[in-house]
Amino acid sequence: MIKQAIIPLAGLGTRLLPLTSVFPKELLPINGRPGIEYILDECFEAGIKEVIFIISTKKLMIKKYFYSDQFYKKIIKKKQDPRIINEYNKILKFKNKIKFVFQNIPKGTGDAVLKTQKYIKNKYFLMLLPDDLIIKKNCSKAMIKVHKKYKSSVMASMRVKKNNVTRWGIYKINKKLNKRNFFIGGVIEKPTVRNAPSNNAVIGRYILPRSIFTKIKSLKPKRGKEIHITDAIQLLINDKEKFIAHNFEGKYLDCGTMNGYINSSMEIGKL
Ligand code: G1P
Repeated sequence: MIKQAIIPLAGLGTRLLPLTSVFPKELLPINGRPGIEYILDECFEAGIKEVIFIISTKKLMIKKYFYSDQFYKKIIKKKQDPRIINEYNKILKFKNKIKFVFQNIPKGTGDAVLKTQKYIKNKYFLMLLPDDLIIKKNCSKAMIKVHKKYKSSVMASMRVKKNNVTRWGIYKINKKLNKRNFFIGGVIEKPTVRNAPSNNAVIGRYILPRSIFTKIKSLKPKRGKEIHITDAIQLLINDKEKFIAHNFEGKYLDCGTMNGYINSSMEIGKL
């Protein structure tokens, strides 16, 4: 059963500078709500009971957003504004299900995952990358269904333009299961156009096995002094762990770049 989700939030957000020089990108409003709330909605709607945030001391504002009880209580006492009461209740609901761990040096997604090791209780857990919003259809929920059916690890995926492969983790299909699901034969982080095994990209939703922790520990930092989750996944595939790529049905919004961020507000505004 997938009951826990982890969300790496310690990244510097350089693609959204200057905004991110003072503000965590995950709190930037998308159509009036912090981006991270859309991710949390997706988790809880998919049946997740606990979410682990991996933050850094530079991004403590994220914790503060969920821990401003005194502030809300004072205001609510003074004026019984139903809107504020409602917003506070929503925040409280989120807060009660979130744990915080720290990754103070941004050493990549693999390293971020490792910080959660002692909190992960079940054999599999979900990871969501907050830059990737998927709207119109709950991608995590669909992936959990695939996981249950095949007892396998799962990653969200989509086709990208051939000359854009350098931006993504790119995988090779081993076997087609059905229209939307494929066994993965191998995966490589941000390949060159020449080295890319395909134009099938991994998008930021992963159902990972707990055995990934041992693999991460065996990795040395690569490009950009980072430890990539993709490399740990490849090690598991070498060990015959099954990974399924799930071509999700929803609409993908890339909130990690300025153009994508601006566009995501417009797209969510249309819903
Ligand atoms: C990360 C992963 C990459 C994946 C992408 C999806 O890259 O490392 O494999 O394709 O998320 O958004 P990042 O966006 O952190 O550069």
